[in-house]
Parts: sequence; C-alpha cells; structure tokens
Amino acid sequence: MRGARVADIGAGTGIATALLSARGAEVIAVEPGDGMAAQLRRTLPEVPLVRGNGNALPLATSCVDLLTYAQAWHWTDPAHSLPEAARVLRPGGALALWWNTDPHDVPWITEQARRIGRHFGGVYDNRQGSPGYTAPHVFEGVPAVPEHARRTVRWSRTVPLDTHLANLGSHSLFLVHGESAADAFLARERERLLEIFPTGLVEEVYDVLLIVATP
Ligand SMILES: C[S@@+](CC[C@H](N)C(=O)[O-])C[C@H]1O[C@@H](n2cnc3c(N)ncnc32)[C@H](O)[C@@H]1O
Repeated sequence: MRGARVADIGAGTGIATALLSARGAEVIAVEPGDGMAAQLRRTLPEVPLVRGNGNALPLATSCVDLLTYAQAWHWTDPAHSLPEAARVLRPGGALALWWNTDPHDVPWITEQARRIGRHFGGVYDNRQGSPGYTAPHVFEGVPAVPEHARRTVRWSRTVPLDTHLANLGSHSLFLVHGESAADAFLARERERLLEIFPTGLVEEVYDVLLIVATP
C-alpha cells in the first residue's frame, strides 16, 4: 500500500480515506456532498479533496493504482461509473468496493432489523444471504470477480448507545420517513437496547463484503 496512488470515491467524512492514508498510500478523496466534504476537510486537512462524483470523476486518465468505494458504489450509475473507473485506473490497477452487512447470527441485530421494518412498514434487511437482501445490488454493474477477489470479514466495535442510535438514524430509510417517525423509533429503541446493554455500550457486529475488480 505504501506509495500507491489511491482515489477514495464517495469518501464521506473520510473514514476509509484516513485508514488508506495511515497505510502509506497517497490518497486523494472525491466527495459530492457539502456537509461530508466539510467534515473531511476538518478531520483530514492534509488529504487532497476534490468535489465530484463517481459518474464523472474529476480525475485524469490513468492516474491511480487503486480506486476505492467504501459503501458508496450504490449511489452511482454503473453505466457511467464503471467506464470512469476504467479510465482513471492505470493499466493493471484495481477497483475495490466494500459494504457492511448485518450478520445473521446475532439475535439483537436481527430483532432490531425486524422492528425497523415493522415501524416503517417495509423490510429493513441488510443481511448477506437473507431473503430480502441480495448483496450484489451494492456492487451493481461490476463484472463478476473470481473467488480469490472477494472476502467477507467480520468485525465489531463497541460504541456508546448514542453513537449507535445516531448511526442508525443517519440511514436513508430514517431520513426519508421524516424526523418525527425516526425520533419515535429511536426513543423506543433506546429503551430496548438499554435492557440488552445496561452499561450503555453497544457491541455492533458487521460482516464487511469486499470485492476487488479489474475493470
Ligand atoms: C454511506 S456514505 C460512505 C462514506 C465513506 N466512504 C465511509 O465509508 O464512511 C456514502 C457516500 O457516497 C457519497 N455519494 C453520493 N452519491 C455519490 C456518487 N454519485 N458518487 C460518489 N459518491 C457519492 C455520499 O455523499 C456519501 O459520502
């Protein structure tokens, strides 16, 4: 990774950007959103940031070794973002995409997903292999990659309940249903989670799906 030229697209607040940079990559961040870009500038002032999106990358042809999309590819139109990826990658370069899914064997996470589905009158399912969820849609348009170029990695983090609820409330489903519906759910969810995590610290568990393609 050291010295590799990487463009992190849909960089958001820079979570992946920071990790790539810490591994010695020369990273450039690309982000369309005003708020996200402002936060990235505050937390990673040393990382170059270009405003733009994956459908029309503001980057030169053949300029990077690795193009990364951390939970952001699904916002693009692959009819445009895939040729754009091929254009900006150097010959032999790679496109890495990843996506956090909910594990299917952690009961409180499964139950929470059911509660969200019930509250908002639909299905809320981000679980690999479960009936309502097909992981490939988050990698839509990317040609199939061989087995050795995909991984599922489990990871977890322990966060204050407020952090967990804020993260949940930032999901698009909560945003589209409006503040009062979201607030009502989050208030009830706080009570339920305090029964499971009485210390107020929540252990979130994720299975991150990763694919590396050579478009
Ligand atoms: C779920 S966030 C992921 C942010 C960051 N990569 C991370 O892992 O924390 C998705 C990001 O994609 C960005 N985005 C939205 N539309 C996009 C597009 N067409 N091309 C690239 N990024 C886009 C959003 O502004 C947001 O920052």
